[in-house]
Amino acid sequence: MGRVLVTRQLPAGGLAPLAGHDLVAPKPDDVPYSSAEMLAMAGEVDAIVSLLTDTIDASLLEAGAAGRLQVVANVAVGYNNIDVAAASRVGIHVTNTPGVLDETTADTAFLLILAACRLAHDAEADLRANRWPGWGINQYLGLDVHGATLGIVGYGRIGRAVARRAAGFSMTVLHHSRRATGEPGYVADLDELLGRCDIVSLHTPLNAETTHLIDARRLALMAPHAVLVNTARGPVVDEAALAEALHSGRLFAAGIDVFEREPEVHPRLLSAPRAVLLPHIGSGSRATRLRMATIAADNVAAVLAGKPPLHPVHI
Ligand code: GLV
Repeated sequence: MGRVLVTRQLPAGGLAPLAGHDLVAPKPDDVPYSSAEMLAMAGEVDAIVSLLTDTIDASLLEAGAAGRLQVVANVAVGYNNIDVAAASRVGIHVTNTPGVLDETTADTAFLLILAACRLAHDAEADLRANRWPGWGINQYLGLDVHGATLGIVGYGRIGRAVARRAAGFSMTVLHHSRRATGEPGYVADLDELLGRCDIVSLHTPLNAETTHLIDARRLALMAPHAVLVNTARGPVVDEAALAEALHSGRLFAAGIDVFEREPEVHPRLLSAPRAVLLPHIGSGSRATRLRMATIAADNVAAVLAGKPPLHPVHI
């Protein structure tokens, strides 16, 4: 039986696969462990169940490897919070939770597509603040989602789940990814795709190549009536540049679930018009979050039983 550090609270029942193991519980009130606390514990546990808010860097992994740490199981599909190269150097497995959150995250992307295109946030904010004078034919005029051209950037499982939903709205779907998909709608040149779409939805992992993939230059390639949606990772978009594009009216609207320095949001983005902003709830349904926790626990249980991890992450 192993000793497992669980860094944050998880959905009830999510740790069932670890029954019988010695669990180092999260802090009360879901306060994250500090880096220093994590570093001090790394060598004294066999496994860590981490969340995307934990920075699992080379020094923590080296301290873990000097002790008995065998596996870090991230309760997320993204793993940009973990130095995977350092983990593989010191022989620690890293795992993620692919597959189970695709449909829920695609639902969130579609929620943001619809809400941003139809200016739902600005309209609701006016209504709640008693600023709605009554029905008017020119109020809150948005962009039709049905029939629009949707550009999906990053055509993995989540991007494809968004494309399936788009078919029900009679949208024309284009997609871009690093490698040619050979499928209808593939556009090799991202700049070209941005110029051809009414709505662009981002679904790439975060890495050195995708940091600020959508910067001021690329925002300027989008049509002035266009809408940007990001449910991937905040740093894929230059948040300051996006805020300026919205303030200046250069971009029609945005739907954003992830931010560059969570939980901070750029003040210019917070005050931007025609922006729907959500606090990173992409995979946030009860059922999906429970499945994610269970998968992370399954991965730890496998490694601690001397088996290969079920969902290993490689560099
Ligand atoms: C959530 O953002 C995830 O990567 O699972």
